[in-house]
Amino acid sequence: MSKSIYHVTPGGQLSGRLRVPGDKSISHRAVILGALAEGITEVDGLLEGADVLATIAAFQAMGVAMEGPQGGHLRIHGVGLQGLREPLAPLDCGNSGTAMRLLAGVLAGQSFASTLVGDASLQRRPMGRILTPLTAMGAQISAADGRAPLSIKGARLHGIRYAMPIASAQVKSAILLAGLYAEGESCVTEPAPTRDHSERMLAGFGYAVRRQGPQACLRGGGRLQGQALVVPADISSAAFFLVGASIAPGSDICLEGVGINPTRTGVIEILTRMGARIDLGNLREVGGEPVADIRVRSAPLQGIRIPRHLVPLAIDEFPAIFVAAACAAGETIIEGAAELRVKESDRIAVMAAGLKTLGVEVAEDPEGARIRGGSLGGGSIVSHGDHRVAMAFAMAGLAASQPIRIEDCANVATSFPDFPRLAQEAGLALQVLEA
Ligand code: S3P
Repeated sequence: MSKSIYHVTPGGQLSGRLRVPGDKSISHRAVILGALAEGITEVDGLLEGADVLATIAAFQAMGVAMEGPQGGHLRIHGVGLQGLREPLAPLDCGNSGTAMRLLAGVLAGQSFASTLVGDASLQRRPMGRILTPLTAMGAQISAADGRAPLSIKGARLHGIRYAMPIASAQVKSAILLAGLYAEGESCVTEPAPTRDHSERMLAGFGYAVRRQGPQACLRGGGRLQGQALVVPADISSAAFFLVGASIAPGSDICLEGVGINPTRTGVIEILTRMGARIDLGNLREVGGEPVADIRVRSAPLQGIRIPRHLVPLAIDEFPAIFVAAACAAGETIIEGAAELRVKESDRIAVMAAGLKTLGVEVAEDPEGARIRGGSLGGGSIVSHGDHRVAMAFAMAGLAASQPIRIEDCANVATSFPDFPRLAQEAGLALQVLEA
């Protein structure tokens, strides 16, 4: 992969109407459930990012025929829960934790063996969190040191009642997917609300999911029925524009058709508490998910102590929130966010280092950070190959006094392949240099 570099000339403002690509979490789930369903599933608005393409390739390697994706459309010829075939080679999840953890849930209950591999970042990420519950269900998975590669020997699974020690939608989803193959009922309880796309989409495919407060349960042995579904625009991709428009005076943008599932809207709540001017209009439902057009106008931001309960609801948006905090008056305190250390990069360390390069005062804590807002200078940022770090620092250019250069941006293609073009069209002075 070429090492792309972003160069952002300071200043400017964001304006216009734009549509960010399809939701990554929902796109993965659409591919997985479509492949395991009976009959045809038609997906529109699918994210054609590298992470989702990895999930598509994995199911194709297991004998699932698909047409596309093209222009956000994918037609999946579902093979039914028992219809997957043994892959001839290891399944490559690339940079995607969601692909690896959700696939592990599906593969644990097959009648064949498989191996899941990933890139250097994914090989560093903790897999023990899925190995523990899946093993308790009867899965046979080996992983040196609790990390990828995962060698999975298909096994007969039985239901489980599992209280997750961490708030993770990937863990919850891995258990529910394994539960499709398990004898009896599988129940997962979460310590705090996490994204519920799996539960919603399973229900959309006709599979009964019993939800009671923090618990989701399903019984193995059912069937999934192919569907037509539309993926809303990804609030995690919209987040960069929410922050960019907030911090660049004179900005006024509208982001169309963005998913506003309440398990995902922590970033709107956090920015609004900081003083951002965000309005939701044209509220509707798309593919079983609430959607809105989001208008953002620039506004002076104020530092806040971010309530802990909002952390899982904005977990992927923290790189952007760090940048908002750096542009706010006063101090922003992030707590209870240790999970940020095991994302595509250690996002607390990487964001703190990058903001310090720009001249911002940041104190790192084991589970968060304290950021004193002020003026942003410029400099050269190391993104550590983390797509969201790269996009967050690109937006920082709007409020910087000097150019910002961001190294190692190729992975932006995992979640937002069109980011440079959309950001340029909206008014960001971004240039992409190929190294
Ligand atoms: C995701 C869940 C979150 C999130 C990730 C996508 C999902 O991870 O950070 O980008 O699609 O279920 P955790 O479950 O590890 O919190």
